[in-house]
Amino acid sequence: MKGGKGRRAQKKTGSPAPVPGQIRINRFLSMCGITSRRKAEELVRLGKVEINHAVVRDLATRVDPARDRVFVGGTQALPVKGFLYLVLNKPKDSITTLSDERGRTTVMSMVRTRERVYPVGRLDRNTTGVLILTNDGGFAHRLMHPKFNVPKSYRVSCDRSLTRTDLAALRGGVTLGDGRTAPADVEFIAQGRGKEIGITIHEGRNRQVRRMFETLGYDVVKLDRVAYGPVTKAGLARGGTRSLTRSEIRALKEMAGYTEEELLSGR
Ligand code: URA
Repeated sequence: MKGGKGRRAQKKTGSPAPVPGQIRINRFLSMCGITSRRKAEELVRLGKVEINHAVVRDLATRVDPARDRVFVGGTQALPVKGFLYLVLNKPKDSITTLSDERGRTTVMSMVRTRERVYPVGRLDRNTTGVLILTNDGGFAHRLMHPKFNVPKSYRVSCDRSLTRTDLAALRGGVTLGDGRTAPADVEFIAQGRGKEIGITIHEGRNRQVRRMFETLGYDVVKLDRVAYGPVTKAGLARGGTRSLTRSEIRALKEMAGYTEEELLSGR
């Protein structure tokens, strides 16, 4: 470690001279899939990161991944060997938490991977469809960040036909308990007798789609996420998973604001 208290610490001002093999602490934490590099800086500032049993708060701290032992909140951070990016076609009656003390089926029981992956955001228990899972914490964090507005498309089945006035209201934005929704793309699905609606939103608030319909007096009988950005569940059985393709990963990263340099380096 370089830059930590009591060991060959660099001067407080200016960056330390790079030492081959050492990398900045925030980059190391992102390589461990813990979070994005920016969020990792927050963890350091908050004093949650220890290197070789000493808390570090200096953002310029560098670590040697081969020698230094880094802990975040008491758990050792280990570099992920290769990031995994999956899509699950989530079935009904499954929950997106990592474990459930009430014994309900979790989406984690449907993925078998060498490294643990985590869902990117949540789907309600009875919502079906596209759920992305990854062990790349920085990627997950950026995908969920409201600034990037990754579009999510749903097929909604309502208890009764949607009126044209309400269709227009959903398009323009409706007022929910946590504020007005942003404009959405909304259309009737052919042969759906007005009860089947396609909606694409650019936000990710809790139970957003259900609440948008409920506020207009409709019950959502079925909700299926058909796409998350460029990723669909085409060809995947319910409960089935597949790896994202390179072009899907790249497209998602572009949507999540990755720079060309980050895309090229695969970070
Ligand atoms: N909107 C909802 O209401 N529920 C979901 O599961 C996803 C989006």
